[in-house]
Amino acid sequence: MRILSIRLIIALILGVTFVSLVSSWSDVQDEKNALRRDLQYKAETLGESLASSAEIYLSNGDTARLEQQVQRFSHRDHLLGIGIYGTDGSTIVMTRELGSLLSRTPDALSEALAQDRPETRFTRLHFTRVYLLAAPLHSASKDVIGGIVVVYDTGYIRSQIFGVWGRVFMRIAGQVLVIVAITLLILRWTLVGPIARAAQWMKTLRTGKQGVQPPSKDLDFLLPLAKEMAPLAESMQRAREAAETEARLRNTNESQWTAQRLAEHVRSKLEGSNLFVVSNREPYIHNWQGNTITVTVPASGLVTAIEPILCACNGTWVAQGSGSADAETVDSHDRIQVPPDDPKYTLRRVWLSAAEEEGYYYGFANEGLWPLCHMAHTRPTFRASDWDFYNKVNERFADALVEEMAGEENPVVLIQDYHFALLPRMIKDRVPHARVAIFWHIPWPNPEAFSICPWQRELLDGLLGADLIGFHVQAHCNNFLNTVDRVLEARVDWEHFSVKRNDHLSLVLPFPISVELTEDVSDAPSLHSAEEERSAIISELGIEATFLGVGVDRVDYTKGIVERFQAVESFLERHPRYQGKFTFIQIGAPTRSNIPRYAEFQREVEFEANRINDRFKRGKWRPIVFLNRQHSHQEVRRYYRAAHVCMVTSLHDGMNLVAKEYIAARSDERGSLILSRFTGAARELHDAIIVNPYDIQATGQAIARVLEMDVSEIVDRMQRMRRTVKEHNIYWWAGSLIGELCGLRLKR
Ligand code: F6P
Repeated sequence: MRILSIRLIIALILGVTFVSLVSSWSDVQDEKNALRRDLQYKAETLGESLASSAEIYLSNGDTARLEQQVQRFSHRDHLLGIGIYGTDGSTIVMTRELGSLLSRTPDALSEALAQDRPETRFTRLHFTRVYLLAAPLHSASKDVIGGIVVVYDTGYIRSQIFGVWGRVFMRIAGQVLVIVAITLLILRWTLVGPIARAAQWMKTLRTGKQGVQPPSKDLDFLLPLAKEMAPLAESMQRAREAAETEARLRNTNESQWTAQRLAEHVRSKLEGSNLFVVSNREPYIHNWQGNTITVTVPASGLVTAIEPILCACNGTWVAQGSGSADAETVDSHDRIQVPPDDPKYTLRRVWLSAAEEEGYYYGFANEGLWPLCHMAHTRPTFRASDWDFYNKVNERFADALVEEMAGEENPVVLIQDYHFALLPRMIKDRVPHARVAIFWHIPWPNPEAFSICPWQRELLDGLLGADLIGFHVQAHCNNFLNTVDRVLEARVDWEHFSVKRNDHLSLVLPFPISVELTEDVSDAPSLHSAEEERSAIISELGIEATFLGVGVDRVDYTKGIVERFQAVESFLERHPRYQGKFTFIQIGAPTRSNIPRYAEFQREVEFEANRINDRFKRGKWRPIVFLNRQHSHQEVRRYYRAAHVCMVTSLHDGMNLVAKEYIAARSDERGSLILSRFTGAARELHDAIIVNPYDIQATGQAIARVLEMDVSEIVDRMQRMRRTVKEHNIYWWAGSLIGELCGLRLKR
């Protein structure tokens, strides 16, 4: 910064001085010319005044009077002397000073006499700068009878010009001083200050203290740097937290899974092999917002779990490009390095036409397989055209994956979900040495239910191309094995939970997915208490309430949202003292709205909320608040922390991560969970209040039970549930899945 300041000061001094000198130069010249003109005028006036009397005395030959007259005129300012000459250039009369300067007749006089007209010039006489005027003198008959010479000292003009330059330099010095001072001040306010504060911030982060991020106006000024600094600071913070957690766990001999531990585990398991993940949803979506491109991370537990694995091994994630600016952000191979702030792995985007998305995603996956696998009494729709698109899109993903895996010796492939049942077989056929797993995130129904699918054999055959097939719970594994047993010619090994078909072995195991649970050590001071959060939310919503319940779902008919509202109604009916006090907030993210059943369900939910509100509402209180939009993780977390109870009443659910997210958010060890027995989560969270969501009155009673539960029991239950989620967190899930897959002995 010192060198920059010195350079700036020198540049300013030279620049300002140069500009001022150039602009002052003509002023000084004007001043000089004015002084000269003034002198010329004086000389001419003197010459003329003297000439008229001199001509008379010279014509009369009256030298004495001539001398007298010359002496009389000789005391003017700056006048050096006067001389009267004859026509031959001989001196007739001359003042003394001039005599000592002029050794001979001046050339100007000779020229004036010869040409009969005045001659003037600025010249030097013995080192003295002078102005000389020579003019002819005439007789009454206009004959030239002699000449007059008037000589002025011009030294005073020079002195005055020096004086002017002196003032110019003083002015320039003043200007330079003011400009340099202002520039240095601006430099200090806008550059040195912000840089110093940013450096201080980086220092606090480096030394592990709680750093205060500089105000955004500081970072605005350093925009290109700030773009790098903020993610860098975040990465440092994350790395520090991870290291602290690791150290804490090592000290307490706990074996909790962390992103760091997962990364190390995966690196050691892969032994240099490359990992390829396939999912329908991509981890980063680029969208146009006006003229700028924004990037969002979909609110999905999958990204939290899979990202550390890919970051650790620099893998590749193949997914559908669904953002409006996705195509503009990839390279010529449809690849982009992510995370955008700190690229660590490759995202390969696959483009689907509207017809492909309609048939494969909305049609076969979500109108066929989704209701087929969820026992929620929505009839699956199977269309041959959707099935064709499902095949075609699975092929499209297989092509992309095979392209990405070209030349790989031992690729490891992790396929996600029911969108890709055919992909494992397609991959295995084309790359037999690939290690392939598929994780089915939704339930698997019993064989009778599954048998209504016209393409059940093809789906099972596709899945059995995988070396490992994962479900959330053992019951789904059993249903799958039973289905295979009934439908295909294959050997099901119930002891090892595997299927052997055409000499290929597929292991079928449960891996209950989870969330991340930290103890909020780092951000605890910034968290509001449940009470504070509650009053803030109540005032934001413009309602009155004492007790809050919360539900967070996509507006999906499997989630039991209508039954939940009816349970709230039943609770208020049977416990009228809670009328005016208990409000249930339903956060409902719109989903798959192109599908008629989803649009219809959205209307059912709205209708039920309005009906119940109309029945009970009074003043500012209402029993149900339906917030029908996508909420970020941070927003949802506030509701989790504020609610006395979270209701998860799915009619059928593979796992349900909302139940676990609620527990993870309750670092205050308060709050109760009402959980449907038809969720995978109910198999792990025994301290939730387990309900049958179809039993509306019993679910309503569960609300009364948790609101009247002893605090000690609430805390006990929450502590135990937190322990379960902490031990079996999202990193444990990913680590177990990869560990199992990499540990398999493949037949080559
Ligand atoms: O529960 C299955 C699942 O695929 C989740 O992985 C995902 O979060 C959810 O359904 C919603 O999926 P999408 O919005 O991509 O249809």
